[in-house]
Formats: sequence, structure tokens, C-alpha cells
Amino acid sequence: MSDRAEEVLRMEHITKQFGSVYANRNVSFDVLSGEVHTLLGENGAGKSTLMNVLFGLYQPMGGEIYIRGAKGPDRITGAGNQTWNRHGPSAFYAGGGYDCL
Ligand SMILES: Nc1ncnc2c1ncn2[C@@H]1O[C@H](COP(=O)(O)OP(=O)(O)OP(=O)(O)O)[C@@H](O)[C@H]1O
Ligand SMILES: [Mg+2]
Repeated sequence: MSDRAEEVLRMEHITKQFGSVYANRNVSFDVLSGEVHTLLGENGAGKSTLMNVLFGLYQPMGGEIYIRGAKGPDRITGAGNQTWNRHGPSAFYAGGGYDCL
């Protein structure tokens, strides 16, 4: 068995604009198995947007997402969306004291 941690998630060059505002500009991020990350940034830094792109709520203008090396769905045509929804990442938004997330 390899002692190298498996890559679970890779987001590459994610760009998401709202009109002329870049919420995410060329953002890359990866997670290895067993890792716990905190996404930290000032108000409006683009944290929620990046996670909403990951969860499939927003379609990015550019960039790619891989889960365990498998590319996410084609966000233009929607191809692969069913598989992504079944096996892809999902969000849990707690009520109450977490409305800053
Ligand atoms: N649905 C939207 N329509 C237009 N602009 C948006 C939308 N969502 C986010 N933005 C803009 O994109 C930028 C990033 O916003 P985002 O909500 O991702 O930041 P955040 O880091 O989650 O901020 P906060 O700490 O306040 O939750 C901000 O300039 C915001 O105004
Ligand atoms: Mg937010």
C-alpha cells in the first residue's frame, strides 16, 4: 500500500464573474485524503462562490474540477451531472450561528 495520500479534490483555475465583478479569478485548490481545510478570507473574498461552484450551484466561466482524478461534469452541456450529483461533493449549511459562511 502506498503511503502517499490520495488526491480527493482538485479545483483548477476556477473563474466566476458576476457582471464585471470577479468573485473568483483563476483559483486553484486541492485536498488530499485526511486533510481538513479552512477557507478563510475577508467579506466578499469569494469563499461562498468557490464552494457553490464546487457543489454545482454555480457554473464557472473557466476552470475544471476533479474528484479522485475524475473530471467533473461538463458544466456547459450538463453531461455527467447525474453521476456528479450522486457521487460528487455536497454542502451542509448549518442554521443559526453559521450564517457568515
Ligand atoms: N449572486 C451574486 N450576484 C452578484 N454578485 C455576487 C453574487 N454572489 C457574490 N457576489 C459578489 O462576488 C464577490 C464574492 O462574494 P462571496 O459571497 O463569494 O464572498 P465571501 O467570501 O463568501 O464573503 P462573506 O465573507 O461576506 O460571506 C463579492 O464581491 C460579492 O458581492
Ligand atoms: Mg460567504
